[in-house]
Amino acid sequence: MKKRIIIDTDPGVDDALTFLLALASPEIQLEALTTVSGNIGIDKTTRNALAVLELAHASNIPVARGCSLPLVSPLHRSGEAVHGTGGIGKSVLPEPKAKPIDQHAVDYLIERILAEPQEISLFMIGPMTNLALAIRKEPRIVQALKELVIMGGAIRSGGNITPLAEFNIHADPHAAHIVFHSGIPITLIPLDATYKCLLTTADVERLNRIDSPIARFVRDATAVYMDFYKKYEGFDGCALHDPLTLAVILAPELFTFEEHHVDVDISGGISMGKTFADFMNVSKKPANMKVALDVRGRDFIELFLERMESLCRAGL
Ligand code: RIB
Ligand code: CA
Repeated sequence: MKKRIIIDTDPGVDDALTFLLALASPEIQLEALTTVSGNIGIDKTTRNALAVLELAHASNIPVARGCSLPLVSPLHRSGEAVHGTGGIGKSVLPEPKAKPIDQHAVDYLIERILAEPQEISLFMIGPMTNLALAIRKEPRIVQALKELVIMGGAIRSGGNITPLAEFNIHADPHAAHIVFHSGIPITLIPLDATYKCLLTTADVERLNRIDSPIARFVRDATAVYMDFYKKYEGFDGCALHDPLTLAVILAPELFTFEEHHVDVDISGGISMGKTFADFMNVSKKPANMKVALDVRGRDFIELFLERMESLCRAGL
């Protein structure tokens, strides 16, 4: 039985690779994309979502445009250094023919989740503004959503946008706070796991042994991302933060999960957006999420490459 998923996203290089992995995986039925500002502004994240679906001949999948600003925090403007001025590295995709649907992402999420209770899994791979507003507007989605998988946070790991905080959470910490305390069953994929999933230049060269627009897109999209990691993190490669979320469906055995009560700092100080797990349960609060504290990163990259190769060989 295919897992029916909606991805809420701020494409974003690794976001784009997530769409491709979903489309390359028979275990997954990608129902829709909902967009949010994050790595780059909402106009570009929405355009990029449409353009990548078109590249993969998947323009039948609806895209709903979402929030352009966080709930309270100012809009981040740092994403271009990592994702390039267009938001997907050096890739040049034609202007998409498809348009986003008329409905706002918040209303689309509410409608889709309530229409088919316990059928839709939601994958959050950007700031969580859309979901937070959907929860406040229609609390019934908390019971109706089948599962929630979040790329975000840093538990034992340091941050990647501040020394303490991870980008998706820091970009809208108040939205994360609403989601973390909503009661929805959450699986969290933090930097602790995603930084172990590095796509290297050799991996990209391997994929480009196949003459395919998708292979060339992966090469061009990751070029800026790779340069950033080389310059600021000393890595030969780039972390596949967002694509790793799909391994919850494709290969859950790769993860080491622990259940903990996890919260996020919204006090506005130096640790704003920091996520922390109550490992000693001093709060006596029940666990609110399953947290991936480790992963067999290279095994995930191999899985990613095999799926990409199958997509490229499909003549895309
Ligand atoms: O911290 C990694 C996250 O921030 C990923 O979702 C990436 O796309 C950026 O949005
Ligand atoms: Ca993202």
